[in-house]
This record gives sequence, C-alpha cells and structure tokens, in this order.
Amino acid sequence: MEILRNVVFYLHLIGFALLLGGSVAQYLSGKLRINAAMLGGAVIQVVTGLILAAPFGLDPGEKLNHGKLAVKLVVALMILAMTFFSRKREKVNRGHFLAIIGLVLVNAGVAVFW
Ligand code: HEM
Repeated sequence: MEILRNVVFYLHLIGFALLLGGSVAQYLSGKLRINAAMLGGAVIQVVTGLILAAPFGLDPGEKLNHGKLAVKLVVALMILAMTFFSRKREKVNRGHFLAIIGLVLVNAGVAVFW
C-alpha cells in the first residue's frame, strides 16, 4: 500500500510539472492558448489528488488535513474548468491565462506551507 501511495504521489508531482511547465512555456511563447500539457496536468492533479486524499499507505499516526485537502480540491477544479472549457479557443485573455498560473502556484503553496 505504501508503494502504491508513493506511485500516485510521483504521478501527482509529474502532473504538477506538466501543469506549471506547460503553462509557463506557453505563456513565454506569446501565444495564449491552452496546450495538452496544461489540460493533461489539470486532469492528473484532480485524479491523483483525490486518490491521495484517501487514507491508505500512510505512516503510523499520520493524519490527513481535510481542510487543506478541501481547499486544494476547489482550486484544482477551478483550474480544470478554466483549462477544459477554453481548450479549443485560439487565444484566451491574458488575465484568464495568468489566473491559471496563479492558481497552480496557490495550490502548490497550500500543499507545502499549510
Ligand atoms: C493544481 C493542483 C495541485 C497542485 C499544484 C498540487 C501540488 C502538490 C504538491 C507540490 C505536493 C507535495 C508537497 C506536499 O506533500 O505537501 C502535493 C501533495 C499532496 N496533494 Fe496535491 N496538488 C494539487 C491538487 C491536489 C488535490 C485536488 C488533492 C486532493 C483533494 C491533493 C492532495 C494532495 C495530498 C494528499 C498530498 C500529500 C501526498 C502524500 O504525502 O502522501 N492535491 N500536492
């Protein structure tokens, strides 16, 4: 069970890399559209995050922080909606695009500092 948790956690970090890396690289290209790495990363984060929110493979005495997980889920669903529903647009607003990057950074911050 611990191995399985580690595998899902590993995928969670890859999803984070795809989401943030995909967003920043796309932003720097100057063409503000949703790419496959962003969309895939957003899906991976919600799926792997929900699995990690289940209490399996934890160290003895280790507890999950449900308040933190609820905030992360809401933010991750916002990111997913903002990428999924704009995925076919040739160009999205700069504010929309920067909000996606900002929300990814917020969720990583919540994961690490809360
Ligand atoms: C954009 C979305 C997300 C980002 C950027 C993100 C980022 C991260 C990062 C950087 C970590 C490692 C740091 C740490 O262990 O505290 C982490 C761990 C974790 N995340 Fe997320 N996360 C996202 C979505 C979610 C969602 C939706 C959930 C569940 C509702 C979730 C649940 C967890 C859990 C339970 C861990 C701890 C893993 C463990 O130690 O077993 N995450 N996340």
